[in-house]
Amino acid sequence: MGFLADSLARIKPSATIAVTDKARKLSAAGRDVIGLGAGEPDFDTPDNVKEAAIRAIRDGKTKYTAVDGIPELKAAIAAKFARENRLDYAPEEISVGAGAKQVLFNALMATLNPGDEVIVPAPYWVSYPEIVALAGATPVTVATDLPSGFKLSPQALEAAITPNTKWVILNSPSNPSGAAYTAAELKALTAVVARHDHVWVLTDDIYEHLTYDGFVFATPAQVEPALKARTLTMNGVSKAYAMTGWRIGYGAGPAMLIKAMAKLQSQSTTNPSSIAQWAAVEALNGPQDFIAKRAEVFRQRRDLVLSMLNQAPGLSCPRPEGAFYVFPSCAGAIGKMSAGGIAIGNDEDFVTALLEAEGVAVVHGAAFGLSPFFRVSYATSTEALTEACARIQRFCAGLR
Ligand SMILES: Cc1ncc(COP(=O)(O)O)c(C=O)c1O
Repeated sequence: MGFLADSLARIKPSATIAVTDKARKLSAAGRDVIGLGAGEPDFDTPDNVKEAAIRAIRDGKTKYTAVDGIPELKAAIAAKFARENRLDYAPEEISVGAGAKQVLFNALMATLNPGDEVIVPAPYWVSYPEIVALAGATPVTVATDLPSGFKLSPQALEAAITPNTKWVILNSPSNPSGAAYTAAELKALTAVVARHDHVWVLTDDIYEHLTYDGFVFATPAQVEPALKARTLTMNGVSKAYAMTGWRIGYGAGPAMLIKAMAKLQSQSTTNPSSIAQWAAVEALNGPQDFIAKRAEVFRQRRDLVLSMLNQAPGLSCPRPEGAFYVFPSCAGAIGKMSAGGIAIGNDEDFVTALLEAEGVAVVHGAAFGLSPFFRVSYATSTEALTEACARIQRFCAGLR
């Protein structure tokens, strides 16, 4: 009998964190490395939010709070849903956790049993299948493709549903592809779920505010009100408000689910940081105008990266609607040899050879469940992006 839990053998460490670590080590060894692996905005947390946290400390708001969120934050979240998504949620239908990741973890752990299936469209955010597997359930990945812009079709969704399906996870805009569903595309998917009473939707809307070219964001419970009773709408302040380190995420759904999630959280982390909760109140209730300005900077970077990558021999990349990632295909590089003598047999070889030859760190598509692709995060300065893309072009041009 081993010392470590069997459940750990079912999961892998995060590939995105592994790439970041590898790049950091090369950098520490004196290599000139540009990291395009990070999943966080390079902008700073707004000053009004920082001030609210400092005020909370001074005012002694430094004690345990209600497990799944202070009433003021739940009210700010309810106001956000009403204002931005035309969704009404009562306080007992809202759960606050230490990041959207904890909310996701709570929801899956509180509902999954061995034998249950969770539909995860690929490419997916690395944590979805891992948390499902940790819960002892089965992730059912459904591959999308480049011609569809990495969007799940209603037919593929229908075909993946079985009597054991408990959740369908939707993430729009997506990490890693940046793809976002229009209201009409979402409606076609929710119509499928609506026909299967036993299936719930877990929608991860964390990149809601990072969409471009006038794209109008929509969320499943809004486009299909009949599904609201079977939907957990997840969001958080990490990406829109550049607050990744504060660890505040939230979910809204039926009170029965929210109560079960709180039960689990009460026996793990208790409440999210009281100070971060007060900061999140200010983020959601305070000025919002900077969000669009930052999104415009991201749009310019997306266009720069897309144009440069699509000029690299062997790469092709669709134009994503949102988030701060692009997910190019490197199919044209497979089967070739790098100038440094590394055979490129798959996307992992491609990113390894690229890091070694040019010091550019990106994450291979297999980590997100779809090959042969790689993810580039453009949440970094325009200068670094321009240099990194020039290096990628040079690397691809040198493949034989
Ligand atoms: C799709 C997606 N969902 C959730 C998260 C986690 O957000 P949080 O920082 O709120 O835990 C991330 C972070 O990378 C993400 O990319």
